[in-house]
Parts: sequence; C-alpha cells; structure tokens
Amino acid sequence: MVLANIVSTGMAVPENVVTNHDLEKIVDTSDQWIRERTGMSERHVSDESIAASDLALEASQNALKSAGINAEELDAVMIATISGDYNWPATACILQHRLGAKNAMAFDLSAACSGFVYGMSLAQAYVESGQYKNILLVGVDLLTKAVDWKDRNTCVLFGDGAGAVIIQPHETKGVLCSELGADGSMADMLCLKCGGSRFPMNQKAIDNNEHFIYMNGKEIFKQAVRVMTQMCEKVLERTNKKKEDVALIIPHQANIRILEAVARRLGLSLEKNFYVNIEKYANTSAATVPIALHEALQEDRLKEGDVAIFVSFGGGLTWGANLIQF
Ligand code: ACO
Repeated sequence: MVLANIVSTGMAVPENVVTNHDLEKIVDTSDQWIRERTGMSERHVSDESIAASDLALEASQNALKSAGINAEELDAVMIATISGDYNWPATACILQHRLGAKNAMAFDLSAACSGFVYGMSLAQAYVESGQYKNILLVGVDLLTKAVDWKDRNTCVLFGDGAGAVIIQPHETKGVLCSELGADGSMADMLCLKCGGSRFPMNQKAIDNNEHFIYMNGKEIFKQAVRVMTQMCEKVLERTNKKKEDVALIIPHQANIRILEAVARRLGLSLEKNFYVNIEKYANTSAATVPIALHEALQEDRLKEGDVAIFVSFGGGLTWGANLIQF
C-alpha cells in the first residue's frame, strides 16, 4: 500500500501582533467579549508590504529544510488560499518561482477555511496513484486585508498566517481516509462578492463597502458544529476506528465555542483530545490546520504511531476531514 505521508511542516506569521486591547481602540468591543465569545486574545496582522506568497515562502522553506530536500525535487506545489497575491495567476506559481521549484506543477485551490483539508485529500490521490512523489502543500490566508476594520462583527475574528507540509509516499504512515463535503446553497453566508466576474471591483462597490468579507456568524456557527462532528464520525467509521484510537484532533480554529460543542457531541475532552491555539492566532482560514499541526508536533502532542484527525469547515460552504496515521 502507498500512503501520502507528512514528512515535515513549517509555518510563518507576520511579526505585528494585534491584541484584543488594541481592537478596543478601533471598534466598540472589549477584551472580555472577544475572549468569552471566541477564545481569541491576539492575532498576527500583515502590513502593506506582506502578501500571501511571502508567508507561504517562509513556511515552505522551513518545511523543505526539515524534510531535507531541495525545491528542485518537488513535483507539485499546491496552495490552499482565498487571499492570494493576485486574483490570478495562482499564488502557487509565484511561490514555485520564488522557491526555485522549477520541476513542479503549481496551482491554487479555493475552498476557504477547508482548503488545507481539501488539499490533503488531493495530495493523497496524487500519491496513491503514483503521479507525484514530492508534494508541497501550503495553507495561507491574510483575511485581515479583506475585513472592514470598522465592523466589530468580523474584524476581531481573523489573523494572517501560513502553514506548509511536505508529503511523500510511505508504506505504513499517512492519510488513511479523507471525507469532503460542500453546500453551495449557503454560499451567501460567508463571502467576498466583489472583485470577481459577477461584481467587478469598481467605485460603486467600494462606496457600498462590498469589497469586504460578509458573514452570517450565527448560521455558520450552527453548521460548523454539525458538519465538523459528522466529519470526525465519518472518517472513524470508514477506517473502522474508535474515537479512543485518536491521539489528537487538529481542528479549524474559528471559535473556541464551536470546538467545545464539537468535543461535547463527540464525547471527547477539548483539553486532552483537541489541539487549540486560537488564542494566539485567531482564525487564519486555510492556515489554521497546518499551523496547529506544526505546533502540535513541536510540543510532542503527536508522536510516531499516533492517529490524528484534521477537520475543517468554511466558506462555500465547504467541509472535510482527514484521518492520518503518524
Ligand atoms: N464586540 C462586542 N460585541 C459584539 C462584537 C464584538 N466584536 N461582535 C458582535 N457583537 C455583538 C453583536 O452586535 C450583538 O449585539 P446585539 O445583540 O446588540 O445585536 C451581540 O454581540 C451578539 O452577537 P451574536 O452574533 O449573537 O454573537 P455570537 O455569540 O453569535 O458570536 C460570532 C458572534 C463570534 C461571529 C460567532 O457567531 C461565530 O464565531 N460564528 C462563526 C464564525 C465563523 O466560524 N466564521 C468562519 C469563517 S471561516 C472562513 O471560511 C473564512
């Protein structure tokens, strides 16, 4: 059997830290409200000089270094993002060039906060089919560039960051199962409509604040709890495993209360069974899972022989999970 195995990880966040107290000075909010309602206390926010490929480059270079391979050995560069450098070309092409990964194909995939989990499933298919042997998968988002800093409903929720993994074939370790889903009937719940072919960016759109993220937080919250629980149950069922077999769940970090509810529904402990770092980074969209994975490995929360689940949901709506043998 050939499995898609994560051989190394890397991460990057911009230096600038914005705390809840900093936000109190910008919008009508409080540190207490943000902590209690979201679990967040600070986030990293890029300045004008930083774009997606800058964070992706740093995270990828770290991952390549710890895998002990050079960029020319890569045969695929995939980026999960909804905030790439440009509308097009793909940020993966920019990264491919900046890394010197001249033998790799490159493309971006758009599945919002589920992008990294979708990407893991793609990497799994490429490795299992024998098509590619050295894959770089990055989750990167800078949604602070797309929020209205006058809107307290959204501006407190997001941070910027990138996480990268190198994936290679292995006989016994790797992705055992991926389960993905989507519901486009809820596309309007979480979106950035302006800038595409339906609503091109123009002065009228800017005057109407349509170039910012729109979110129906309450509805997204309910869906997130439901589908993240279901996805964990599905990958366990498909691999004939029990929840007790799982060492760590690495979830998308959108709201601590979503994670508490998922843990409760699964009959698991948030502290023991889930990796949570939302307090430091807030919601970095496609980057939450690979950043959390990187930190979990560094803190020895995951060891050789452990089973982990990555689980996410996001705009689209999209959702998914990967069950991984480490
Ligand atoms: N500070 C103070 N008060 C606030 C703030 C804030 N930052 N934000 C909202 N409020 C107020 C609201 O205006 C409202 O006031 P009102 O009752 O006077 O109208 C009150 O707090 C309660 O608002 P709710 O929306 O009911 O607050 P809720 O407890 O639902 O929390 C939140 C809102 C945090 C957005 C929550 O719904 C949530 O996390 N939803 C999921 C968001 C999410 O996961 N997004 C995913 C993005 S992923 C991607 O794909 C990009």
